[in-house]
Amino acid sequence: MTQLIFATGNAGKMREIRQIMADMPLDIKSMKEAGVTADIVEDGKTFEENALIKARAIHALTGGIVLADDSGLEVDYMDKMPGIYSSRFMGEDTSYDIKNKAIIDALEKAEGEERSARFVCAIAAVLPDGSERVVRATMEGRIGYEIAGQNGFGYDPIFFLPEYGKTSAEISPEEKNEISHRGKALRLMKEELKEALS
Ligand code: IMP
Repeated sequence: MTQLIFATGNAGKMREIRQIMADMPLDIKSMKEAGVTADIVEDGKTFEENALIKARAIHALTGGIVLADDSGLEVDYMDKMPGIYSSRFMGEDTSYDIKNKAIIDALEKAEGEERSARFVCAIAAVLPDGSERVVRATMEGRIGYEIAGQNGFGYDPIFFLPEYGKTSAEISPEEKNEISHRGKALRLMKEELKEALS
């Protein structure tokens, strides 16, 4: 079976990719399971560039199929910040409670449509022959007026989904996977892989 390495150290992301790719003839491994370690500088200017940087770096070490993702939150009122800097925004070690409150404060004067935001996920693949594929998907919403919900992580407690009347930290993980930027991007990548490997 062809090996696919997903360049992440995140157990939640591994669970999601295994679920979505379950019917593909692929032996899916995390970097740890594949015995790969790498210190990669993500200095791209876009989600796509950063995902490609990671996938290329690991592919150079392992060959086979390598997937990598990059994601973040774009807040329109903040000129699409924090964007690719989502985990580094206000400092890597600053709690999300503080980051989330700062975003709510920055939008103090924003009303309705002005509070639009989206989670973005780009996934890059480098295939055994060295060819590359990149997909992108989003989950659209608005920045809420207060922090709400215990599920999810990061910016989920301020990401309000108008069609649910809840934040993405208040819906179940299964509901989130159905509509999330990462779930959608993984399903798009699965179609790319089906085509590439047929
Ligand atoms: P990465 O792609 O795992 O590096 O994620 C980058 C950052 O974007 C995370 O550390 C979070 O701050 C933010 N982020 C990405 N996806 C989500 C999500 O689904 N919920 C909340 N925050 C997210």
